[in-house]
Amino acid sequence: MYQMRDDIQSILVDENTISDICDRLAAKITQDHRDSNRELILVTVLKGSVFFATDLIRRIPLPCGLEFMKVSSYGSGTSTSGFIQVHLDLKRDITGADVIIIEDIIDSGRTLQKLKHLLEDKGANSVKCCTLLDKPDRRQVEMQVDYVGTVIPDEFVVGYGLDFDEKYRNLPYVGILKPSVYQK
Ligand code: PRP
Repeated sequence: MYQMRDDIQSILVDENTISDICDRLAAKITQDHRDSNRELILVTVLKGSVFFATDLIRRIPLPCGLEFMKVSSYGSGTSTSGFIQVHLDLKRDITGADVIIIEDIIDSGRTLQKLKHLLEDKGANSVKCCTLLDKPDRRQVEMQVDYVGTVIPDEFVVGYGLDFDEKYRNLPYVGILKPSVYQK
C-alpha cells in the first residue's frame, strides 16, 4: 500500500514540536492582548494555515474572532511567481480591531506584505503576523514577523497544511519532500 510517508525524505517538525510551538505562541499572543479592550481577530490565510490556526486559537483563552482569506502566490510548481491574487476577501468590518494574520509559512514575504497593507487599508488598529514556519533564506521583501514558530532551511516542505499539487496537506507533521516527487 502506497502511503504519503513514502514520499517524505525526513520529518522536519514533528507533532510534539508543533504542539509545543502552538502552546508557546498562543501564550505569547494571550500575554500581548489580555489587557486590551480592542477586538482581536485572527485572519487565516487559506488553505495551508487552517490546521495551525485551529490548533492555535483553541489555546487562546480570550475572545477572539476567526476570519478567512484566500490568496495565491504560487502556481502548481515550487517557486514563487511574485503575483498575488485575492480570491476570497473578508466579509466583515475590521475597523479598530487588532488583527493577527495566521500563516503556515513565510517564504518570499510577498503574500504577507500584500495582506498587511490590505488589512491596514481596511482600518485595522494593528496588523501583526504569526507564522508556524519561517524560511528567511528565501525572503525577497523585508517583513517583520511578530510570532514565529520555527525557522527552517530552504527545503521543499509539505504537511500540516502545506501541499505539493494539493497533496500532503493531511500529514500530521511537516516533512521534507523527496526531490524525485517534484522533479518528475
Ligand atoms: C503559501 C503560504 C503563504 C505563501 C507564502 O500559500 O500559505 O500564504 O504561500 O509564500 P510567500 O512568502 O512567498 O508569499 P499558497 O499560495 O501555497 O496557498 P495554499 O496555502 O492554499 O497552498
